[in-house]
Amino acid sequence: MIGTAVVTGAAGFIGSCLVDHLLRDGFSVIGLDNLRTGTKENLTEALSHNNFRFEQVDICSKDIASVVRESVDVVFHLAAISSVKFSLENPVEVNKVNVSGTLNVLELARKLDAKRFVFSSSAAVYGDPKRLPVKEDTPLSPLSPYAASKIAAEMYCLSYGGLYKMTPTIFRYFNAFGPRQEYSEYSGVIPIFISQALQSNEITVDGDGRQTRSFIHVDDVVRATYLASQQENHLASTFNLSGSESISVLDLARMVKELVPESTSNIVFRDAREGDVRDSIGSMERTSKVLGFSPTIPFKVGLDQTVSWYRSRTR
Ligand SMILES: NC(=O)c1ccc[n+]([C@@H]2O[C@H](COP(=O)([O-])OP(=O)(O)OC[C@H]3O[C@@H](n4cnc5c(N)ncnc54)[C@H](O)[C@@H]3O)[C@@H](O)[C@H]2O)c1
Repeated sequence: MIGTAVVTGAAGFIGSCLVDHLLRDGFSVIGLDNLRTGTKENLTEALSHNNFRFEQVDICSKDIASVVRESVDVVFHLAAISSVKFSLENPVEVNKVNVSGTLNVLELARKLDAKRFVFSSSAAVYGDPKRLPVKEDTPLSPLSPYAASKIAAEMYCLSYGGLYKMTPTIFRYFNAFGPRQEYSEYSGVIPIFISQALQSNEITVDGDGRQTRSFIHVDDVVRATYLASQQENHLASTFNLSGSESISVLDLARMVKELVPESTSNIVFRDAREGDVRDSIGSMERTSKVLGFSPTIPFKVGLDQTVSWYRSRTR
């Protein structure tokens, strides 16, 4: 299917890469973002494209109904406040954007008669599962307001799927990484370690560093997210999007240090972060069987490319 897509969070890390992919494939795209963490720089390629329109708007505001009036085939909903740490400090704000904002976007999709709704949820919904790799039917166990907000938003997506002729697809992303992922105190561990190494600051490992993550490259995340709009049969389900390697945070710090040989950074340990899960890797059985998707970018190749991207920005 090629048609018209709305992408919320279009100026963000994953959203902007999805926009580029959709445009390359012939979609017309309307990107919505309030530029809270996203940037227009991420949309440089898209903004020169005739089939792209950008609307700077808050997904919580009524204005989203007035900025999109054309008929839309698919809504990819990525806009969110995407930080466990920020959610511990500002739970009410995170609930407003991630839950009420999602409901507002679902209402927009319903009014526009969109047939498909693709939602970016998170592996955080599983908390600390008893068995790994975690499967999609594992009981949910939120350890932070961020995780709880993603569960609530998933439930709204499913309810709209049941009520209206709108097929929701929910992706639970594990740790995505790659170019365009912004560095801040609220960002993921990879941008933090790379920035620290490039500036020869201490590389700060939270806890004992033995906690593990399964990183998945943004190009793989985008390819899978896009696939949900391309299925012949309407596809209503929830899918993990996880990398296949389990990597400890301490090993990650060492890998980053190796990729920045000129760095004089030492690796230091701090208190463990509240709300963080211990180990996180998802089963890709369902994703591979139903969507025919498996990640293709080996972690080390992606990490090397990401370090090069940060280097090019700091020059
Ligand atoms: N990056 C990851 O590892 C990861 C993991 C699990 C889930 N996710 C989910 O994937 C989605 C995209 O994440 P990302 O890593 O690209 O984050 P990001 O912060 O780069 O992108 C989110 C975008 O949403 C926008 N936004 C925030 N609040 C908004 C609002 N009120 N109105 C309009 N726009 C708003 C931001 O400006 C930003 O451009 C999010 O829903 C996130 O929760 C990401």
